[in-house]
This record gives sequence, structure tokens and C-alpha cells, in this order.
Amino acid sequence: MLDNINKAYEFLQKKFPADAKLAIVLGSGLGPFVNEIQSPQELSFDQIPGFATPSVEGHEGKLIYGKIKGVPIIALQGRLHAYEGYSLDEVTLSIRVLAKLGIKKIIITNASGGINFNFQPGDIVTINDHINLSGRNPLIGKNLDEFGPRFPDMSEVYSGDLALLIRRVAQQQKIELKSGVYAWMLGPTYETPAEVRMLRTLGADLVGMSTVPEVIVAHHSGMEILGVSCVTNHAAGIKPEKLNHDDVKDVAEKTMSRFCTVLTETIALMGGGRS
Ligand code: HPA
Repeated sequence: MLDNINKAYEFLQKKFPADAKLAIVLGSGLGPFVNEIQSPQELSFDQIPGFATPSVEGHEGKLIYGKIKGVPIIALQGRLHAYEGYSLDEVTLSIRVLAKLGIKKIIITNASGGINFNFQPGDIVTINDHINLSGRNPLIGKNLDEFGPRFPDMSEVYSGDLALLIRRVAQQQKIELKSGVYAWMLGPTYETPAEVRMLRTLGADLVGMSTVPEVIVAHHSGMEILGVSCVTNHAAGIKPEKLNHDDVKDVAEKTMSRFCTVLTETIALMGGGRS
């Protein structure tokens, strides 16, 4: 794995200026956010040595360097998921490469099912903590000491400061922002209604099939993390409707304009610029 990380790092470090300290990972249906990037320079994942390519519709598989409101940023449009058959080393490789490239703050986004009865499709929710019931962890194996410690503390994985920042922006923009706990399920099946009831009992507000592996690796590397979820559906069993990926992409698309506004303004502030 280290070999692939180094190969990708060597390649990318020659391609782009080294000024980006901020990155964003775009989840299902949220890829169009890249239209906000000025002077984009993009590479598809298959052009980057060491990277694997996503196979899911709604996930492009591109790395883009550019600026948002003058702030240099690297965006990952599309991600790999464990349910595609990738190892967690593969799923999180891009995050370790970003760490090597000097990224200090990362916004990790996803589409999720709302478990909390107060959450509606179209809601934007900051992730304040997560639950990992998968029995898997991307840090299993020999610790990569150059990135972080063997036993990382997990008591504040999602930065309280960044959550405050986005909340301030949302208030200014009159965009409603909720906050909740995200449960990672492996997928690719959506949850059963019994699983959703279990997750609610355990304290989860949102459920999805991504994010947690990347968050663990980003945290291990010492990055400040802002988790932002777009609720695309009521989790299974709450409403009579069945779940499908087209509806997930559809609702994510309809949420894009609010999502773009709140995130571009937040990025301006995270980069030290003025909103
Ligand atoms: N469950 C799991 N993953 C999801 C969901 C869901 O309801 N919606 C979007 N991604």
C-alpha cells in the first residue's frame, strides 16, 4: 500500500501547485459541486498511478485541483466503497495521498438515509460523530507511523470549530442545517426496517455506506474534518416507499444549490478568506 501511496504522491505533486491545504470528497449525486471550482485541472482516477477506479453510477472518479473563492482546493469527485469489493486500503488510499500532499482540513460529504424522525429528504446535516458497526477498520494492519499513532483518540473526530463555522454560514445564508450521528453500514443492500430501528436505538440519526473509513484515515493523519451529509431519503421502514439509487441521486441533485452555497462560503472562511 505504501508503494501505491508514494507513486500517486510523486505523480500528483508534480502536476499541481503545492498550495492546497483543503480538500473535499463529494458523495453520491453531489459531484456537480465541482462546477464551483475556478480554473480546474482535472485527472481521472485511472490516470493516477496507484489509484483504483469507482464503479458506481453517480461517482465520477476524478481528482480536481483549482480554487473556490480564491482558496486552493483539491476535490475528489466520486469515491470507492467497500461494497464494490475494494479493500479499505484501496478505499482510503486517496486520503493518505492528500495527507502527504499537505492537506490539513477536509470536507467529507455523502448522501444518507434519515433515521431521525425530524430529518427529511433534502436536509443538509453536519455529522457530529459516527458509529462503526462494520467490524472493519482501515487502520487494521501494521501502523503507518509516518501518518499517525497506533491507537488514535476518537473523542472529537469531527471538528467542533468547523461545525461552528458552517453553522454561522448557514445562518447568514438562511439555509437550515441539522446535526447528527452517522452510522456506517457496509451495503450494498439498503438496511432492513429492523436494522434501522436498531440503529435509532443505538443513537444514529443518519445511515450510509461510506465516509467512516475515509474519516478514520483522515483523522489518523491529523486532519481537521467537516462531515456534511445530504439526506436523500427516509431510512427503510419509516415510509411505505421502497428505496432506490435513482431517487437518492435525484434528491441530491435537488439539494445541490443550497449545498453549493453553504459549502463555497464555508470554504472561503476555512481558507482564511472573507465570506
Ligand atoms: N441507507 C444507506 N445508504 C444510503 C441511504 C440509505 O437509506 N440513502 C443514501 N445512501
